Amino acid sequence: MTIDRSRIMSAELRSKIMSAEDAAALVPHGANVGMSGFTGSGYPKAVPLALARRIEAAHARGETFRIGVWTGASTAPELDGALAKVNGIELRLPYQSDPITRERINAGAMEYIDIHLSHVAQFVWFGFLGHLDVALVEVTAILPDGSLVPSTSIGNNKTWLDQADKIILEVNSGMNPALQGMHDIYYGTRLPPHRKPIPILGPGDRIGETHFRCDPAKVIAVVETNAPDRNTTFSAPDATSKAIAGHILEFLGHEVRRGRLPAELLPIQSGVGNVANAVMAGLEDGPFTGLTAYTEVLQDGMLNLIRSGKMALASATALSLSSEAAILFNRELDSLRNRIVLRTQEISNHPEVIRRLGVIAMNGLIEADIYGNINSTHIRGTSIMNGIGGSGDFARNAYLSIFMTPSTAKAGAVSAIVPMVTHVDHTEHDVQIIVTEHGLADLRGLAPKQRAAIIIDKVADPSFRPALKDYFDRACRFSPGKHTPHLLEEAFRLIKRG
Ligand code: COA
Repeated sequence: MTIDRSRIMSAELRSKIMSAEDAAALVPHGANVGMSGFTGSGYPKAVPLALARRIEAAHARGETFRIGVWTGASTAPELDGALAKVNGIELRLPYQSDPITRERINAGAMEYIDIHLSHVAQFVWFGFLGHLDVALVEVTAILPDGSLVPSTSIGNNKTWLDQADKIILEVNSGMNPALQGMHDIYYGTRLPPHRKPIPILGPGDRIGETHFRCDPAKVIAVVETNAPDRNTTFSAPDATSKAIAGHILEFLGHEVRRGRLPAELLPIQSGVGNVANAVMAGLEDGPFTGLTAYTEVLQDGMLNLIRSGKMALASATALSLSSEAAILFNRELDSLRNRIVLRTQEISNHPEVIRRLGVIAMNGLIEADIYGNINSTHIRGTSIMNGIGGSGDFARNAYLSIFMTPSTAKAGAVSAIVPMVTHVDHTEHDVQIIVTEHGLADLRGLAPKQRAAIIIDKVADPSFRPALKDYFDRACRFSPGKHTPHLLEEAFRLIKRG
């Protein structure tokens, strides 16, 4: 491991350099630890692994040792996976996508609070989540005055550094020093009733500082690392995601022709995963230029749009790139720095800014019901998949709120369109467009029964349509209330193919 000690420019903080094991020994049982990390980028690479070893040893001695883990969003096997494997997490928030963590949560062995990502920082400021004991944050460098150059994600790091009693820093010499200047850390937030408007009028506006402020007296350890981010793997768009992307692009073109969108569209928010990435690939081949993004995560597809010049600039809180895209990003960082702004997640996902800018939100789903309610998080109503992430921040406040999904799951065995969702993340009031490979349901201006007809006809898989139609027809006849007709005794029964 090559370490570049010149990254630690503060003499005071240099004196606190120690091993990951020694730093992990400073975290006590029961601590709430605010860790960096967002969609597999910018998470601490060494101390969580050392902490997991320490917890495993404590458990082997019959001692109890569990901590609360708060992050920006999902992290990596070296953090969530390692700590969950040794049963070291008492409570996790606000988002995860790790298979071991998911298994522990669904087995009832770990508590999980699934929170809108824009809410997390302010809930900590308000004192709603309890006390934050330790901040464990990866940075690219420590400047002579002790301020910190952020890494590849920002997430809640500003809040962790401000609010925690003690700070452990991981300085990752593997991070490109040219990241310096890409970040925008806003220190103008206040608690109600003293809040002022967030002064972002365009997606590229910079309103803050390029570094985190940090009280050196709170820093208890500095750990040197040199390791890349987990990196996300994207599969090439398949026929289903290409079809979904095609419907969305056709719809956006239609909206431009109808005068409801400008030719360069409005700032785009694109959710996580392959379908979202495929939509970005579709935009690459589409007619739109001068695009912008006000989003949470910048994936490969969006980076390509920026590199090709189709997208002028993007605002996000984190990168989530494949290893090939990360190489391109690092190579071209000097020219990308002025076209990408990384912000704290309370600002990247801020409802006020999303509403003002008129964001086009595009997110994935697990189930949509015939009236347009969306389940983004639960399998059969009881098992968590990942979490709501930022989808609610965007969908609720967007100019256009689009949800997209393959029409079936589990190799075609399960319909993504159901009579009634088994868990609600986004209500019918926050959902305007639903898209599958079969088509697009534009729900704007439609009443519940009109929405049901169009959702069943346009986006449900044809093989499930007869059963959905039969349910809806009988609900219209026999439901006691005729506004949103349902047959509650069978609403959750698995829908079978016709
Ligand atoms: N019934 C049962 N399982 C289902 C299902 C359904 N109706 N729909 C999806 N699944 C399962 C899939 O089979 C897959 O399981 P597997 O990993 O065991 O194969 C898993 O859910 C993920 O589905 P996939 O088709 O791979 O979709 P995806 O990667 O596009 O993810 C979400 C879809 C909804 C899980 C994902 O978009 C998400 O977590 N959203 C919430 C957070 C969010 O929107 N963030 C962006 C905001 S910026």
